[in-house]
Amino acid sequence: MRNDLTLDWPKEGLRRVPYEIYARDDVYAQERERIFEGPVWNFLCLEVELPSPGDYRATFVGDMPVIVARNRDGTIHAFENRCLHRGAMLCLKPGSSKEITCVYHNWTYDLTGKLTGVAFQRGVNGKGGMPPDFSIAGRHLRALHVTIFAGLVFGTFSDDTPPIEAYLGPEISMRIRRVMAKPIKLMGGVSQYLHSNWKIYADNLRDSYHASLLHMFFTTFKLNRLSMQGGIIVSENGGNHVSYSKMATDTNVDYDTATLRAKQEDFGLEDQTMLAGRDEFGDGITLQILTVFPGFIMHQIQNSLAVRQILPKGVDETELNWTYFGFDDDDAAMRDLRLRQTNLVGPGGYISMEDGAVVNFVQRTLPGGMGDASIVEMGGAGTASQDTRVTESAVRGFWRTYRDRMGI
Ligand code: FES
Ligand SMILES: [Fe+2]
Repeated sequence: MRNDLTLDWPKEGLRRVPYEIYARDDVYAQERERIFEGPVWNFLCLEVELPSPGDYRATFVGDMPVIVARNRDGTIHAFENRCLHRGAMLCLKPGSSKEITCVYHNWTYDLTGKLTGVAFQRGVNGKGGMPPDFSIAGRHLRALHVTIFAGLVFGTFSDDTPPIEAYLGPEISMRIRRVMAKPIKLMGGVSQYLHSNWKIYADNLRDSYHASLLHMFFTTFKLNRLSMQGGIIVSENGGNHVSYSKMATDTNVDYDTATLRAKQEDFGLEDQTMLAGRDEFGDGITLQILTVFPGFIMHQIQNSLAVRQILPKGVDETELNWTYFGFDDDDAAMRDLRLRQTNLVGPGGYISMEDGAVVNFVQRTLPGGMGDASIVEMGGAGTASQDTRVTESAVRGFWRTYRDRMGI
């Protein structure tokens, strides 16, 4: 049931975000229905994570457990990870099988989510069992529509979600294809808990100007500075974005006189190998951070490539899953470089660990912030693409789509 959400958004519109939006239980409950189960594409996994028929894995859509599986005919299916009997989670880890069996009372399902068997349906020795009018036929775990775009598997519960390319927009589609240009090879994954509401991290990702202020490693070792050529592209609906920069174009202007906390000229790295990169996409772009509403991220930072999944775990906890990859045709040196650069980006990454801390710094002030709002005015009031990263355009874009979805 869709209830009305009473929330007074400040009159300044997208230039303000009321702190209560991150803290209210009723908002969190409504997000489940209006966002994650609504007309959005949720990232489920990389296609390469299900290489063979019979492969399946557990994931989430919002905080709902979901299974994504490759059926024996090769097609990919996704369905809720909740047994039709009495609600046990069916699957906890990746596996490969002809069917999925619930551990609790052994109801079985095929890899499309269809119920195929009920243990002791006829009872034992003529006693007990399900009533004669109980039928297995036509029972199915709640299914998602699945689409695959450039090796990424997305799912949606809604019949009204636009086709994936229309949902992404041409600019974002192009920049996903830019990275996913050839067969990929999985390198591994990690998961971390962020002690904050999921939207504080969604803001953080779309805020390109914090990177060279918060992340000292970025600025000190000149991996990412706002004086480099770069920009922000925001999709037409606002929800998806790309920010990019080119390391070789650093003019260093504006950094010489500034007293930036993040700029430490008297530091050097003994081992420079981590900073060396190869221009593997041939366009000089050394950093590309891409998001898709609500919870998908793809990054290319030097030669570190990964996708991330933002999974809310309650109003004030969030799980962040990272999956790193390279390409099938990587030579040994490239593989080594990617592994080294895994130190840059991840839960303890030299240029990303501060994000895990700072989202909690925001979270911790929420109790005193009810009735107040954040200021989101860098780069103006709109959500347009800009050829600078000194802007919060993509943050406003997120809130535009969020408000549309939530009916605020
Ligand atoms: S809860 Fe799954 S078989 Fe009983
Ligand atoms: Fe960051």
